[in-house]
Amino acid sequence: MKITRPITVFLFLASAFTASLYAQRNITTLEKGWKFLKGDAPQAESAEFNDSKWENVTVPHDWAIFGPFDRNNDLQNVAVTQNLETQASVKTGRTGGLPYVGTGWYRTEFDVETGKQTTLVFDGAMSEARVYVNGQEACFWPLGYNSFHCDVTGLINKDGKDNVLAVRLENRPQSSRWYPGAGLYRNVHVVTTEKIHVPVWGTQITTPYVGQDYASVSLRTEIINAEKKKLTVITKIYSPDGKIVAEKNNQGFINHGQPFTQNFIVNNPLMWSPESPNLYKAVSEIYADDTLQDKYTTTFGIRTIEYIADKGFFLNGKHRKFQGVCNHHDLGPLGAAVNVSALRHQLKLLKDMGCDAIRTAHNMPAPELVRLCDEMGFMMMIEPFDEWDIAKCDNGYHRFFNEWAEKDMVNMLRQYRNNACVVMWSIGNEVPTQCSPEGYKVAKFLQDICHREDPTRPVTCGMDQVSCVLNNGFAAMLDIPGFNYRAHRYEEAYEKLPQNIVLGSETSSTVSSRGVYKFPAVKKAQAIYDDHQSSSYDLEYCSWSNIPDIDFALAEDHEWTIGQFVWTGFDYLGEPSPYDTDAWPNHSSMFGIIDLASIPKDRYYLYRSVWNKNAETLHILPHWNWEGYEGKDIPVFVYTNYPSAELFVNGVSQGKRTKNDSTVVNRYRLMWHNVKYHPGEVKVVAYDNNGNKAAEKSLHTAGKPYRIRLVSEYTSLKADGKDLAYVTLRIEDKDGNLCPTDGRMVNFRVDGEGKYKASANGDPTCLDLFHKPQMHAFNGMLTVIVQAGEKPGKIRLRASAKGVKAGEFVIPVTE
Ligand code: GAL
Repeated sequence: MKITRPITVFLFLASAFTASLYAQRNITTLEKGWKFLKGDAPQAESAEFNDSKWENVTVPHDWAIFGPFDRNNDLQNVAVTQNLETQASVKTGRTGGLPYVGTGWYRTEFDVETGKQTTLVFDGAMSEARVYVNGQEACFWPLGYNSFHCDVTGLINKDGKDNVLAVRLENRPQSSRWYPGAGLYRNVHVVTTEKIHVPVWGTQITTPYVGQDYASVSLRTEIINAEKKKLTVITKIYSPDGKIVAEKNNQGFINHGQPFTQNFIVNNPLMWSPESPNLYKAVSEIYADDTLQDKYTTTFGIRTIEYIADKGFFLNGKHRKFQGVCNHHDLGPLGAAVNVSALRHQLKLLKDMGCDAIRTAHNMPAPELVRLCDEMGFMMMIEPFDEWDIAKCDNGYHRFFNEWAEKDMVNMLRQYRNNACVVMWSIGNEVPTQCSPEGYKVAKFLQDICHREDPTRPVTCGMDQVSCVLNNGFAAMLDIPGFNYRAHRYEEAYEKLPQNIVLGSETSSTVSSRGVYKFPAVKKAQAIYDDHQSSSYDLEYCSWSNIPDIDFALAEDHEWTIGQFVWTGFDYLGEPSPYDTDAWPNHSSMFGIIDLASIPKDRYYLYRSVWNKNAETLHILPHWNWEGYEGKDIPVFVYTNYPSAELFVNGVSQGKRTKNDSTVVNRYRLMWHNVKYHPGEVKVVAYDNNGNKAAEKSLHTAGKPYRIRLVSEYTSLKADGKDLAYVTLRIEDKDGNLCPTDGRMVNFRVDGEGKYKASANGDPTCLDLFHKPQMHAFNGMLTVIVQAGEKPGKIRLRASAKGVKAGEFVIPVTE
């Protein structure tokens, strides 16, 4: 097996004490040089096993995203009880129609200095991971989303030979309600330390007092193998701009396993918030009998969170509502394989929409996402489970719950309890256990674990069975009652429950396909069409869900609602409701505010008009190419932060509309239901609160498709082999208007210091494979993703299609 050198981080230490050159913490991320087999192989764990015929892959790797899509990959005959179904029916595309089921093996080699303490850390492995080092089983971890670690010190070769790491993964059929991904889809690290060391996630930082003048910071450091040793811990606190703002040098012992505690005062602290995500660092040196043993860095933030009955949620003393979204973990065309630039891309789009919070539905996130939320300023609700002891899926987590729930909770809580962005834990989503008479006991068991591991954050649970949980004590027991949908019952819940606040833990589930419009524009549950799409007038939803306007109003009208997490920020693979019952080829969701190709749908601008208070939003829908509809009624909607606007078609006024309280929809949207279609120009002029003209926007009927235009906000990429640029492809007419119904096949060629990574078009029925360099446009658009290589230079992307001029995009790749 060929090994390419992995990324290594050495932390050498200097101090006033005996400087031991050997005292280092070494973290190696195993990315390159893996071998992969889809299938099972006897003795594949053995060190001597010949894997030369296996595929070469880099990790993170998702074995299922390369397809092919197939109806039989996840064909099921089930009743989805959460969707109010009582009888089984044939379900297609629920998990993305991708081949995630089955067994897979990964093998690689790693070298470590002998005599060190060696720990493997898996950020997540899908799923039922069995980890072997040099042929011996090192650990097993069933839940595919959680991070876990195993001490492999005893299994390391003593003669200095490279060590063989083998991982067997198995995904059972019917183990998920959405696309889970498959394989080593998150990073794997080798951590070596001295014998006396801080274990994985071994620190806990709290801020017992936070004021404008000063904050008290308390750091508890676990130190392993240090019983009876005289310990010295020197910790320096670094401010967001890298200055040392506090420092302590303390001596002591580990008494009865109690962590080593230090306290600091940070004067004039810079608070963490979504608007100013200030982060501090505590860098600790650990000495035993005056010899340096370890150096450990903990990143944290200083902020206060308060959830006050009747009054709501306060961050740093300021009242605010969660303007949040739920997201599944897949990255659309990249599948589940984690990539930092893809996550950053998602968060940037959400930020511009005015979103300030993320719920990791319904599982532990990638650590990279939590880090980005800390850095970019998003509050987080982290959630571990979609299932407890009662099944939703035949082979779901209920098989492991009794034995593993506490271990899973502990890992999640310890891993993320120092992250400022995390403001609340969830213990589960719509678990059937909520309706069992003793269900509250299970909830209490999980909530107690949260309180024990992290006394600083409250606990919620996404509940959908409102009658059950209001009557059986389940909702009353939680720190924060969280309701999924059922907005009409919030008031009752507020009055009946002792907490006197209500969280919209999951809201809306409006469905739409980007660029698809159905007439007339009317509110409708479970609307089904021959083309298997949903209308982008944002008035369609599922039997259990609702339009966004209702949730906006609830947030504005009641102090005791603490905000919402919309289902979902991004479309995801799987759960193609309302086309999940024998409706192949639908295989991805329609709930997203942003489509699977990361292109905002019209709904994005509706949320932006309400949530982003610092920017102007003025958006017109639909497009203006309605051949055959001349003289007929086309509904026109405008999403804007301005209170009123006037619409013109070819210069003729269609009247002025002002937001008003006559209906919930009129409160947030400006609508002209009977605009006679004439090709040409549709223009909107917006007026501010004083009736002054504030902005205008227009759309034109596009002529014949003429060219491909490639547009991107990315101006350079890092030569790290991972950085991505998202490029939007538009089929345009001669004048630069989008041809809004074009669906031609486009081919891509990438040259230079990078490669074609994937493309997507956001069409939930499209079976084009993401990793192949061709894709149909969907309503005139698609997204191409290119990935930087490891050398500086340029990447040139060329997109060509029959009948139109090709497009080109060039981006530099720098060191
Ligand atoms: C909820 C559920 C989500 C998703 C959503 C679709 O009930 O919690 O996982 O299924 O419905 O609307």
